[in-house]
Amino acid sequence: MTDDQLQGVLMDGDGNDTRDLAPTVTLAKLYEEQGFLDKAASVYKKLLVMEPDRADLKEMLEAVEKRLAGSTTELEKSKTKIMLDHLTGWQKVTQERKKMLDQKGEKGRKILVIHGPNLNMLGRREPSVYGTFTLEQIDAEIKKTAEECGMSADTFQSNREGDLIEKIYEALDGYDVLIINPAAYTHTSIAIRDALLMLDIPIIEVHLSNVYQREPFRQKSMIADVVTAQVVGFGKDGYILAVKGASNMTRREADIARDA
Ligand code: DQA
Repeated sequence: MTDDQLQGVLMDGDGNDTRDLAPTVTLAKLYEEQGFLDKAASVYKKLLVMEPDRADLKEMLEAVEKRLAGSTTELEKSKTKIMLDHLTGWQKVTQERKKMLDQKGEKGRKILVIHGPNLNMLGRREPSVYGTFTLEQIDAEIKKTAEECGMSADTFQSNREGDLIEKIYEALDGYDVLIINPAAYTHTSIAIRDALLMLDIPIIEVHLSNVYQREPFRQKSMIADVVTAQVVGFGKDGYILAVKGASNMTRREADIARDA
């Protein structure tokens, strides 16, 4: 054995000089028990320098070296597993986020349009104030405009306050924006106001007529300070403006969410 080789066996796995510890089989076994396999191997090597013909030492060294090789492989395997687990987790997060943004983006954005009492009579009801279009015609135009904006719209009309309130609850999940004309309930309904207060989506209040130029009781809206925007006095076009405004509002929100 050369001096260099001897120097090699006098150093432990971490490059520490172990010459001050007398190499014995007991020391090697101690290292083995504590899991310091590289140190154990180094002790066996030193012993073999002194007693090169001892077959038992060679066997013990071989056994430790085998364990050393095995533990490295195990370590590598567990490192790879941790990396793969991380990657799979990250992939799941990315997929979920993409799904969420796809729902929010373009086709997925949904508008709910709610019409209050007597609006089912449009066309026949005071045409000089509310126009000659029927509610069916207005709803068809709302849906067409929503689709042109890459959205979809569901419409609903009721003459009953409770039904309107329960429809508002539906906007809690599954809608990105609410357009509402509560008609006469605009001026009286604290209950509709309270229902709207639950929503955290944009709400657009629409009136066919310019309520601010009419009787004093129509000039007070119970929901004006709860909604995001108002459109008044454009007749049926007010709904179309509201849909376009809703599209811009929610597209901005989807963009912000995508950039975050
Ligand atoms: C209305 C105005 C309300 O004052 C009235 O009661 C309606 C319709 C409008 O669209 O102009 O029914 O909301």
